[in-house]
Amino acid sequence: MTAAPRIVVTGKIPDAGLELLREVGDVWAWDRSQPVPADIRDAQLANADVAVTLLTDRVDDTFLDAAPKLRIVANVAVGYNNIDIAACQRRGVIVTNTPGVLTDATADLAMALILMSTRRLGEGERLIRSGAPWQWGMFMMLGVGLQGRRLGIIGMGAIGEALAQRAKAFGMTVVYNNRRVIDADTEARLGAQKVDLHELLETSDVVSINCPYSEITHHLIDAAALGRMKSSAYLVNTARGPIVDEAALAEALLNRQIAGAALDVFEHEPDVHPGLLGLDTVVLVPHLGSATIETRSAMARLAAQNVVEVLAGRHPINPVTA
Ligand code: DGY
Repeated sequence: MTAAPRIVVTGKIPDAGLELLREVGDVWAWDRSQPVPADIRDAQLANADVAVTLLTDRVDDTFLDAAPKLRIVANVAVGYNNIDIAACQRRGVIVTNTPGVLTDATADLAMALILMSTRRLGEGERLIRSGAPWQWGMFMMLGVGLQGRRLGIIGMGAIGEALAQRAKAFGMTVVYNNRRVIDADTEARLGAQKVDLHELLETSDVVSINCPYSEITHHLIDAAALGRMKSSAYLVNTARGPIVDEAALAEALLNRQIAGAALDVFEHEPDVHPGLLGLDTVVLVPHLGSATIETRSAMARLAAQNVVEVLAGRHPINPVTA
């Protein structure tokens, strides 16, 4: 009788994923909220056929050295910048991610951040919680409306498209920049027009980052890019922190070079650039893009489904390649 495949889950994931994994293998799962210590994780990885990982895991040569039998890394995230794909490929380890199931949740959050920054909601909340006296006033905490404003989306994948759909419902016009060409029907449905990055930065009232992180997109939004934006414009990032040069952003906000920003992700997550913390013009939330009960369950289930396919000798549903 052959032994059941050994599945190591490096962090807490919803039951929907764990239950499926338990049907196909012998599961060890770290069950605490804080990250698993490396020695405990490595002891488990020694015999692992499968690693189910979170975006807080760094899957590099050190991780892979600890797991000589590994066949698949199933990342419970759409982003996979935490994984050294080339190192996995060199060792014949399959990598999968969880696209699609978090599209709506992340687009909802991007829209919420657009509203939070343009309507100064974080600032308003802080005012009330501070206990300072306040009263309704005709000119109190005025923001800007979205109707007729231009949203520039950097990265028109599924999340970018879902955001464009929401922005359209708020009366915004949409331009985008993307490597892949969007088909004409989708462009027409979203009322979205492709422009180059400079034009997007120079003409948008809100710039939203929705592209993956890579060497190419590292610091895509740096001092020069921020310098191209309108002084009345807002920057929203729900993709990955290092796409924005956070020090340059803090400087641009301090000097009122742009009107505001809203960040769900951070360059040195979970640290936040100290220059941002004291600014009322930036909204800061702790990487909540996919944080709904339904979405996290769907992500865990999809990661597990990828494992099921690979263990059955079939192609994974969501393979990631370099
Ligand atoms: C992802 O899946 O990449 C998200 O950042 C998690 O919320």
